[in-house]
Amino acid sequence: MSQQQAQQDNNVKFAYWVPNVSGGFVVSNIEQRTDWSYEYNVRLAQAAEKSGFEYGLTQIRFASSYGAENQHESVSFSHALLAKTEKIKLIAAILPGPWKPALAAKQLASINQMTNGRIAINVVSGWFRGEFDAIGEEWPEHNQRYARSEEFIRSLRGIWNTDHFNFDGKFYQFKDYTLRPQPLPNKPVEIFQGGSSRAARDMAASVSDWYFTNGNTPEELKKQIDDIREKAKVNNHQVKIGVNAFIIARDTEEEAKAVLQEIIDKANIKAVKNFGDATREAGASTAEGEGNWAKSSFEDLVQYNDGFKTNLIGTPQQIAERIVLLKNIGVDLVLSGFLHCIEEVEYFGQKVLPLVRELEAKQAEQLQAKSA
Ligand SMILES: Cc1cc2nc3c(=O)[nH]c(=O)nc-3n(C[C@H](O)[C@H](O)[C@H](O)COP(=O)(O)O)c2cc1C
Repeated sequence: MSQQQAQQDNNVKFAYWVPNVSGGFVVSNIEQRTDWSYEYNVRLAQAAEKSGFEYGLTQIRFASSYGAENQHESVSFSHALLAKTEKIKLIAAILPGPWKPALAAKQLASINQMTNGRIAINVVSGWFRGEFDAIGEEWPEHNQRYARSEEFIRSLRGIWNTDHFNFDGKFYQFKDYTLRPQPLPNKPVEIFQGGSSRAARDMAASVSDWYFTNGNTPEELKKQIDDIREKAKVNNHQVKIGVNAFIIARDTEEEAKAVLQEIIDKANIKAVKNFGDATREAGASTAEGEGNWAKSSFEDLVQYNDGFKTNLIGTPQQIAERIVLLKNIGVDLVLSGFLHCIEEVEYFGQKVLPLVRELEAKQAEQLQAKSA
């Protein structure tokens, strides 16, 4: 492997949130020049891949809630965006319950083949009971939802990698099953998952390729990352870490902070409160009281996944430095949400990303000089 390739592999990666759900990424009445239409999303995906983003993450929601009135389905939407792009990977969110592993494995193997391996998935375990009730899906309790997701992932891996696959789980069973076509052998479907709770972390430490977590301070993120990596080591498993951040990059810090203040001042109070109530079904309600929104304040909840807490809010230089700090505590990917998606993805690609790469190269040189 060339030195340049090794450096690129070691670079922190960027994903952007795909607005396939209406209402943008903050529960606020501030203007959001972001649109959930397919046409807008094609332009955004093309802008993102040009700007250096390696992934886009779509969301799965079945029912209207909290300012999200319309929701395009994640797998079909991801596939449609892949057809209009060349390099970027799309991560489609999949919810065990509505999805069965046999269908998901078949659907994703075909998309993998048709897009030269650019489809990935985010196996989500459910936090919004209202939508499960609305579509007549059973709502297992928190840890059982993760137990099911873990079996779901083990089933997918088994189907994709084994002929005559047999599996006798609590939730899923397979008998002598052979899938054709399988995903491309050198471009497997990467498996992401979301969460923060004990159950989410344990699943990441056993079966997922990537663990996405909500925004947080570097100190709190480090605790979580160390905890997961320690457990993964015991399981002889490797897992990469992605952290959510709502990025407000502006030419001056004052401008960036003023935008944050305006988002919060114009928060849709009723919707934020309802969203906060719904999140109690997630890890916050478990015995250990950890979980995605266990310690979220009202202000935090204005961004769906605590993205303000990561504090990528300021000038390009400030943001780049904080991203390298995140990398140094073990973060492999920053999942970025924006107020005005296309404009800000482009600004990020022009102003912030080159600084991140400069800082990373400088750090690599320093490390090399030290070890020489
Ligand atoms: C980055 C990220 C993306 C997520 N995307 C979705 C989604 O599209 N649909 C969904 O129902 N849940 C989604 N979730 C929710 C998680 O799957 C999980 O249910 C939630 O984080 C609760 O976690 P906890 O058990 O750790 O509290 C996402 C979570 C994260 C961190």
